[in-house]
Amino acid sequence: MAKTSNIPVTLIEQSAYAETDFDSLGFGDAFSDHMLLCDWADGEWKSPRIVPRKPLKVDPAALGLHYGQSVFEGLKAYRGTGDNRIRLFRPDRNAQRLAASCNRLCIPAPDPAQLVDWIRSLVAVEAKWIPAQFGEALYIRPMIFATEGHLAVRPANRYTLVMVAAPVGQYFAQYGRPLRVKAEDRYTRAASGGTGAAKTAGNYGATLKPMFEAASEGFDQILWLDGDEHAYAEEAGQMNIFFRIGDEVITPELSGTILPGVTRDSVLSLLKQWGIKATARRISMAELRKAAESEGLLEIFGAGTAAVVVPVDSIQYQDFDIRACPPSANSLSQRLFQSLLGIQHGQVDDTNNWIQFVDIE
Ligand code: COI
Repeated sequence: MAKTSNIPVTLIEQSAYAETDFDSLGFGDAFSDHMLLCDWADGEWKSPRIVPRKPLKVDPAALGLHYGQSVFEGLKAYRGTGDNRIRLFRPDRNAQRLAASCNRLCIPAPDPAQLVDWIRSLVAVEAKWIPAQFGEALYIRPMIFATEGHLAVRPANRYTLVMVAAPVGQYFAQYGRPLRVKAEDRYTRAASGGTGAAKTAGNYGATLKPMFEAASEGFDQILWLDGDEHAYAEEAGQMNIFFRIGDEVITPELSGTILPGVTRDSVLSLLKQWGIKATARRISMAELRKAAESEGLLEIFGAGTAAVVVPVDSIQYQDFDIRACPPSANSLSQRLFQSLLGIQHGQVDDTNNWIQFVDIE
């Protein structure tokens, strides 16, 4: 038993590292050797521990499985290009968002500072798993679910927090071209007063059928619209969405139905710091269509932890195609992609203090 930051660590006997193909990292195909576990019972989170990654024993009546009392996060640890130091990007924001998601799902939230400490501990143990190439990272996935076996629809009295790590490349790297997106005007992701702002499992399960249908029609992604009229942009399947119209960049406001993305917030901050007008407001498909028709829709791009910043070619909405201008060397999406990854890999000054180092003796 070795110790890291007061958390007991049981090391794996046979590491999977040598069998992992670091030359062609996808997203979520490979996992590191260890996971962090922690249990909630009797009113507190207790016994955080790092152990070899293996299947969990779960009560078949676990409330998290039956009624979706389950929340998660996603954040990345990067290697510095020049100095090889390990960098976490705004882990405090993920920890705060996890607490907000817990609150919406009646799950007792771990203290955000405590959670960041646990993330740091797992990253320290899994340091060798952080890939070195620009754009690659160790993706950390904390997840909490209700483990109490019961059939009443009520908040559980036992939970497990499990945190796994996966060396990843880019989420959409396989496409190598701007995405073709379908605006979903039949299914709805979130309605006012629902769970849209929480990172909860059900929000993602609900995307599968529309995404599958869109993929079978040749699209790469869907764009969710508002639940009332299906007339306003909300967010894409796995990322927030941005539109550059003339000299302004617009992203849908945090109305309670979309995810408050950490990358979304970072993109808004960078744009403002570059002197670009960046606005969070409601934006209709009619406005986007009009902008595209007058050639004022210069760019569409998505932004998220997994996706980073990814250009969108066009959005099909009902019977018309909302097409952005072709990407160029001056595209904001490209500048944002380079800048964010530059900060994350230590090539660009971190003037916003977004980086937390994890130094290992
Ligand atoms: C992330 O960007 O970290 C996400 O959680 C999206 C995902 C479900 C792949």
